[in-house]
Amino acid sequence: MSSALISLSNLGFAWPGQAELLDIPSFTLQRGETLFLKGPSGSGKTTLLGLLGGVQQARRGSIRLLDQELGALSAGARDHFRVDHTGYIFQQFNLLPFLSVRENVELPCHFSRLRASRAAQRHGSVDAAAATLLGHLGLTAELLGRRADSLSIGQQQRVAAARALIGQPELVIADEPTSALDADAREAFLQLLFAECREAGASLLFVSHDQSLARLFDRSLALAELNRAATPAEV
Ligand SMILES: Nc1ncnc2c1ncn2[C@@H]1O[C@H](COP(=O)(O)OP(=O)(O)OP(=O)(O)O)[C@@H](O)[C@H]1O
Ligand SMILES: [Mg+2]
Repeated sequence: MSSALISLSNLGFAWPGQAELLDIPSFTLQRGETLFLKGPSGSGKTTLLGLLGGVQQARRGSIRLLDQELGALSAGARDHFRVDHTGYIFQQFNLLPFLSVRENVELPCHFSRLRASRAAQRHGSVDAAAATLLGHLGLTAELLGRRADSLSIGQQQRVAAARALIGQPELVIADEPTSALDADAREAFLQLLFAECREAGASLLFVSHDQSLARLFDRSLALAELNRAATPAEV
C-alpha cells in the first residue's frame, strides 16, 4: 500500500448548469498528516470534501482513498466505503436532534461493522468507546442520555467530533467546525482533535477561514493553489 491516504489526479467537477468549479491536476494527503485548507466562501471547499468523501462524483479524473478508486465503486459500495474509512464533521454539525448524545456518537457504528468492531476492540464495547471519546473531548457522562438539540453549540461540536472519530476511521474531515467558538475554545478544541487523530493514526483534513489556526497543522494550503479553475479573486 502507498503512504498516501488520498491521491487525486486530474479532477474536474461542475455543479449541474454551472461553470467548472474544480480543476485540480494533483493533490495528495499522507497517512497521519494534518492539513489546513483555506479559501474564500464559495470557492469550492465543501464541494471538494464531498468529492473526497464520495458524496459527490467527479466529472473526470481519479480520486483514490486507501488505494481504492472511488469512481470504480457503485453508489452503495461508495457509501459503505465512506462510512468505514471517513469521519466527517460537517459545517453545521448535522447531529440528529431527536436522538440522544450517545446515539449520535454511535451512529457510524450502526452503518459500519468495521468501525463497530474497531471501537469495541479498543474500548471493550461501542458504548464504552462513545463515553471515552466524549470524556476525552471534555463532555461528562451525564450528557450521554440528553437529546442532542438540548446542548450548547460548543457541546454539539464535541459530539460531532466524537461521532467522526469513533471506530478510528483513517480520514477525519472537518468542515469549518470551529466558526461558532471563541479563539481560546477553538485552539483547545483543535488540540483535542489532534490528540485523538494522532492516537488513532488518522489523517485530518480541516477547512477553515481562520488563518490563525494554520500554524498548528503539518501543512497549510489555499484551495486556489491547487485549483486551476479558481477565479483571479481567489488566488
Ligand atoms: N448542492 C449544490 N448544488 C448546486 N451548487 C452548489 C451546491 N453546493 C455548492 N454549490 C455551489 O458551488 C460553489 C462552491 O460552494 P462550496 O459550498 O463548495 O463553497 P465553500 O468554499 O465551502 O464556501 P463556504 O466557505 O461559504 O462554506 C458555490 O458557487 C455554490 O453555490
Ligand atoms: Mg463550505
